[in-house]
Amino acid sequence: MKVLVLGGAGYIGSHTCKYLATHGHDVITYDNLSTGHLEFVKWGPFVYGDIRDYANLRQAVHKYNPDGLIHFAASAYVSESVSNPGQYYDNNVLGSLRVMEVLRDEGVRPLVVSSSCAVYGVPTENYISERLPLNPINPYGRTKLIMEWMLQDFAHAHQIPWMALRYFNAAGADPECEIGEWHTPETHLIPNVLNAILNPASPVNIFGDDYPTSDGTCIRDYIHVLDLAKAHFLALEYLYSQKPGLAVNLGTGQGKSILDIIATAEAVTAKKVPHKFCPRRPCDPSQLVASAELATKILNWIPEYTSIDKIITTAWQWACHKSHN
Ligand code: UFG
Repeated sequence: MKVLVLGGAGYIGSHTCKYLATHGHDVITYDNLSTGHLEFVKWGPFVYGDIRDYANLRQAVHKYNPDGLIHFAASAYVSESVSNPGQYYDNNVLGSLRVMEVLRDEGVRPLVVSSSCAVYGVPTENYISERLPLNPINPYGRTKLIMEWMLQDFAHAHQIPWMALRYFNAAGADPECEIGEWHTPETHLIPNVLNAILNPASPVNIFGDDYPTSDGTCIRDYIHVLDLAKAHFLALEYLYSQKPGLAVNLGTGQGKSILDIIATAEAVTAKKVPHKFCPRRPCDPSQLVASAELATKILNWIPEYTSIDKIITTAWQWACHKSHN
């Protein structure tokens, strides 16, 4: 199949492009390079463009006539969404609206979008299933939920086949080190832990040690980026078989605390992680762990990187590669 990947120069987008291309599919990357990297576009044509630019996006869909679209293009920092909500409503809500309008006007085809566990807010149960209430606690999560609602309405009115994939904590990197996690600034835990090993003068901050968890630090469900990539492909296949649109969690179902991550990083690298304890970061739920039963059931999705050691090993290989280049 031929897939137009919006935001294909970013972290999860580029890994999905590689996954699709190495499994025999054609990919076209559409990206405004605001956070993505041209160096990550290696598996097909590149179209420079912003998803909010209706004419440019429509032209790309018209020119390449893809069988399906995957939409990663979004702003994705929780704390930035609190300080600058306008950017998030503009990029994530209006941008997604433009994508749906282009499909409505240029011909509908399956659409898979990046959503987030942030749509649940503070979960009411330890394992988050898709049936739990949707109560996002920050603008980022609200923009993702609004996107999902828009999709439901566009699907109802214009028959767009859709799936929203609610990622938990994306982590790790391409084991061949062609691409990996590269954000500026880097705010995510695992790259910050590994960067502290590489630059011992800059210890990693641990935000909060008084959460109601076993060791007092926040618990997250880290899912390897290649397992996410595969899920996008399976989602497109699912939509080709004319199934109804829905939102699906992507996680491993295993929770790891910040101190677990530090201990695993120390074991994998055989080095100490310089760290210091700091106050809590605003809007951080204490625990986010997926129930990913639905993805297994309907997509037959089974994550390969089920151990945190394997995830951190690939992240470490990438961090070392990046620091040498
Ligand atoms: N953390 C630190 N130090 C750091 C970075 C993070 O202690 O240097 C902590 C955070 O406070 C949090 C945990 O490590 O408790 C994980 O933080 P990340 O920033 O790596 O990831 P988040 O859980 O905040 O974010 C993820 C996704 C978002 C999504 C969010 C939902 O990256 O896209 O989950 O809450 F919106």
